[in-house]
Amino acid sequence: MSGAKELTFDDFKKMAKNPKLSGAEKIGFPDSYRKGKSKLILEDICTKLLLTKTKNKIIVDIGCGCDDLTFELIDLCKKNNHTLVLIDSEEMLKQLPKGKNLVKISGKFPFKNKVLDSYIGKSDFILCYSVLFYVFANDNMYLFLHEAVNLLKAGGSFLIGDIPNIDKRDRFLQSAEGKKFLKNNAQVKGSTAHDNRDQKMDDSILLAIISRMRRSGCEAYLIPQNEKLPMANRREDILIVKR
Ligand SMILES: C[S@@+](CC[C@H](N)C(=O)[O-])C[C@H]1O[C@@H](n2cnc3c(N)ncnc32)[C@H](O)[C@@H]1O
Repeated sequence: MSGAKELTFDDFKKMAKNPKLSGAEKIGFPDSYRKGKSKLILEDICTKLLLTKTKNKIIVDIGCGCDDLTFELIDLCKKNNHTLVLIDSEEMLKQLPKGKNLVKISGKFPFKNKVLDSYIGKSDFILCYSVLFYVFANDNMYLFLHEAVNLLKAGGSFLIGDIPNIDKRDRFLQSAEGKKFLKNNAQVKGSTAHDNRDQKMDDSILLAIISRMRRSGCEAYLIPQNEKLPMANRREDILIVKR
């Protein structure tokens, strides 16, 4: 392995406790990254998980963080009378409000916990947004995925959102549109570094997840993000539907 270490669960805990950081910074993003985009991100999520067209569902958000997107999701769930189960460190969960249909379970997923176990086979939707990359870099990704799928009821869906794919990024940067993008210094910042490529997710990893999930009794699809999303040129989503 070469290059910088990726952020760990403990790094996120420390950032969550730091009062000098904004919500975005606590989850490892510069403020500029998603500024004003959380509504658009949630809209894109709702085209893949039917959160707005349904009511009274159980939604589990693994690695919820504490940025605007999570606050928007909390509001949406309140309006639609969904139960929202938020999973992250205690430090991160403390940044979020309390509410009637909000269940906070602290810990590094997967873990044994009575309340969490009560959702096994009962959850309608699982969201795991901008999280899998850190699990891939630091932990056992397949264990994480199988334990998440275990929470789903038959017919339930699991969106693994915002997965950085270095091969997708390279295809983009080599295209005419990508070459234009490279001329804009503000956009290029942080998008072209090729250090620690061996720690990055690529086509082979994303396609292996699809194959693994299909072999374990689920349907699984690789899907693009709305092109207006900040990282749509190099990130994509996986939708898993339990049979
Ligand atoms: C980049 S942030 C994304 C936060 C949020 N999902 C969003 O998109 O706004 C990653 C979050 O995942 C959490 N996380 C990382 N690994 C986790 C794990 N194994 N179990 C639970 N949370 C985890 C971190 O604490 C952090 O809050």
